[in-house]
Amino acid sequence: MRDQAIREIATSTTQQELQEVRVKYLGKKGRLTQRLRELGNLPAEERRQLGREINAMKAELEQAISHRKHELQQSELRQKLEGERVDVTLPGVPFKAGGFHLLTHVINRLLDVFVSLGYDVVTGPELETDYYNFSALNFPDDHPARDEQDTFFTVDGRLLRTHTSPMQVRYMERHKPPFKIVVPGKVFRNEAVDATHEAMFHQLEALVVGEHITMADLKGAISEMATALIGSETKTRLQPSFFPFVEPGAEFAIWWENPRSGKEEWLELGGCGMVHPKVFEAVGYQDATGFAFGFGIERLALVSYGIPDIRYLYQSDLRVLKQFRGVL
Ligand code: PHE
Repeated sequence: MRDQAIREIATSTTQQELQEVRVKYLGKKGRLTQRLRELGNLPAEERRQLGREINAMKAELEQAISHRKHELQQSELRQKLEGERVDVTLPGVPFKAGGFHLLTHVINRLLDVFVSLGYDVVTGPELETDYYNFSALNFPDDHPARDEQDTFFTVDGRLLRTHTSPMQVRYMERHKPPFKIVVPGKVFRNEAVDATHEAMFHQLEALVVGEHITMADLKGAISEMATALIGSETKTRLQPSFFPFVEPGAEFAIWWENPRSGKEEWLELGGCGMVHPKVFEAVGYQDATGFAFGFGIERLALVSYGIPDIRYLYQSDLRVLKQFRGVL
């Protein structure tokens, strides 16, 4: 019986099986337990002798069981660990990386240029009041210049800003010159949407105020921007124009080689001029001088990358977006 029990213990392959072997020999109705119980029927001498042997065997089996139990626990643990093993040398699961939108790239690139020239970057609200968008910028109430910048109005009389110029006023109200700032942001117009016009687009505004600022500084700032954008010395051009908040006012263009056609031409960018005394008056500045310029960012992006329709920039069509992942 002993040999058989030892063999069964040694060959059990799970803790469950081992437990069954234990019950079979050492349980309440187990074979060894049975034998112990039968001792009572034997004469005293035999009983003592056999009793010792059975108890020794019982101890031996218990030890064998506990030894086997330990072995089985170890091997079950090994199997479990083996099953959970991670091969850290396997390549990772690739995931698709996103990228900046082309407009974000262009804006970042412009901001880099101005930050390197010492300008601060500030932003302002898209929902504006008539005061900041028009009145404080010297648009008289019934002036036709307002008609050129029709926009969307809220029922409480506010409006979606038509340009980033209101930030000129907001910034000056809270800061003393000298300073140099650029303002990137969304602007809105009531436009008949077509390939070159959207009801929402982006502008970059620059405002420099200090002592003895002149048109020469304005021209210099535009040249610096053009050079940084185009990468080599380039020409810039100012042509007289009208904006109520500058005097004199001009439109500016930079001379460049159109990357699509390869032709050299003027790229009309936006408006500029010396800050109008009425604007300084509105913010309580005395004896200040300064210049401002502002232009549409979409136009720069469209011409630079040969995009035929402004609407492609807002349709989130991956076939378009993917082409500009990682540009610049
Ligand atoms: N805000 C003007 C526009 O949107 C551009 C401009 C900015 C003109 C600064 C002069 C000075 O048309």
